[in-house]
Formats: sequence, structure tokens, C-alpha cells
Amino acid sequence: MKPLILPLFGHDALAASIASGLDAEMGSVSLRHFPDGESHVRLDSNVVQREVIAVANLHDPDAKLAPLLFAADAARELGANRVGLIAPYLPYMRQDTRFAPGEAISSRSFARVLSGTVDWLLTIDPHLHRFNALDELYTRPNRVVHAAPLLSAWIAANVASPLLIGPDAESRQWVAEVAAGAGAPFLVLDKVRHGDRDVAVSVPEVAQWRGHTPVLVDDIISTGRTMIETIDHLRAAGMKAPVCLGVHAVFAGDAHAALMAAGAAAVLSCNSIPHASNRLDVSASLVQAARAMLA
Ligand code: R5P
Repeated sequence: MKPLILPLFGHDALAASIASGLDAEMGSVSLRHFPDGESHVRLDSNVVQREVIAVANLHDPDAKLAPLLFAADAARELGANRVGLIAPYLPYMRQDTRFAPGEAISSRSFARVLSGTVDWLLTIDPHLHRFNALDELYTRPNRVVHAAPLLSAWIAANVASPLLIGPDAESRQWVAEVAAGAGAPFLVLDKVRHGDRDVAVSVPEVAQWRGHTPVLVDDIISTGRTMIETIDHLRAAGMKAPVCLGVHAVFAGDAHAALMAAGAAAVLSCNSIPHASNRLDVSASLVQAARAMLA
């Protein structure tokens, strides 16, 4: 029997592409709230003896965790062989330590709950900083898809004389890979975060790169402050307006508009989180990885 894709939380276009690539059937789940705010979940598709794959946009995750848990449990109780999860954006990965006394290490708790909910997990470029691999957090089989080849190809095809700029030391390996794929030089900056919207980024040494087009690359664009700070430095140095490329378009509040207003020539992202800036399609990479999970 064909695998069954269950789209959750409005990522239907991506779910449909994945279903088509896997030759799977598109299922449906009805989600609503009772008058008291509790979640009501109903599977509208037959899951008996099937590989069920939930495709879930987990950006802004708190209200989604309970319905995801209920849907996965229902699928298993109703006879699914396994319930896998494709979460193109994996949230809470940045809360990977106790930055101040008493703080919750949310990435650990979130991983513990998800690991108890699904049989396998597939995601795109999770923010791995203090943890080196998902296996340090997630106890279920998992696979990570890397967006670097997509970013490299887009840059090579669309930007003349690109100079890639990564925002912080932990992005070095990733930015180096994107740059190598695009055949472009790269710089990596130093970043210090003082607060949610208070970021200091070192001044890039761009004297030898005048005439190049800066391409700021990051895994997540959230408040946009990291990129805005960098743009300010580049403008002061007389560089061209940069292209901003993020894998995950979190864009908290007015971050996207603020980034454009700061002087970005263009802002682009992958479709791991639905957003107007989505230009790079991750579905083929997810299909390939999902095939391996199902094998
Ligand atoms: C964290 O280190 C990430 O790689 C990003 O640099 C960060 O999430 C960007 O956040 P913001 O857009 O709020 O500056």
C-alpha cells in the first residue's frame, strides 16, 4: 500500500510535492479547537498497515505540539505501521544551553517529547551549535537534509561576483560549503548577542572585495538583526547592496520589511517555512531523504 502523507499546519504545497515525489497518497487531518481551547484532531484517511508521514510546519511550535502528538498517537492506535515526521524547520534548536541561571534547555525537552511521538524524523539544516548532531537530542532514527547545494546553485546562477558572508563562527563550515559549491570567496564574522534584538557583528574586512556582490547567508533569519547589523557595516564600507539568503524564513514580526528597509537588494529563503521570500524548493531533497527513511 502507498505511504500516506498527512499535511499538518498549512504546509500543503510542500506536502503535495513530497506526496507526488514519493508516489504516496495525500491524506487529511481535521484540526479544530473545542470552545475551551483544547485541540480536537480527527484523521480523515485510512492509516491501517501504512507508512504514515506527517508533514508539519513547526515554526511557532507551542500551539502545534499537542495536535501533532494527538495525530501521531491516533495514527498508531488506528493501525499505522510507523509514523514518520517531516519537519522542514525544527524549532527550539537555538535554546541549546542554560544561557542564564534557571533557564530551560528547551531543545532537549522538545526533542524528548518529539522522540516519544514519532518513529522517525526528517528535517532541513537544524541549528546545531552546542550539539553536534541530532542524535545527541533525538532518540529516534533521523536524517538531516542540507540546503547548501540549493543555495550554491542559486548563487552561481544569479549573482555576479558573489562574496559570501557568514554571520558567526559556528556558521564557518556551512558557509564554506555553500561558497565552494558556488565557486565564490567567503568571509566569516564574529557575532555577540546581547539580547533578543540586540546583536553586535564584527566589521567585515571587505577592502579587497570591492566590486563583488555581498551575499549574506544564514540558517535562520529571525529578527533580522544579525543581517541588518552586517548590512550597516557593508554600507559604511561602500559595498554594493547585499543579497540576503536564509534557509529558514522565521521572520519574527516586521523582520522581513526591516531587512529590505535596511538596504538588502533581495531577501530569499527556502520553502521550509511558508513565506513570501521562498525561492528555493527543498521538496526534491526531502523526497530523496524520505525514500531512505522508508526503505
Ligand atoms: C543563530 O546563531 C543563527 O544561526 C542565526 O544567526 C540567528 O538565528 C539569526 O537571528 P536574528 O535574525 O534574530 O538575528
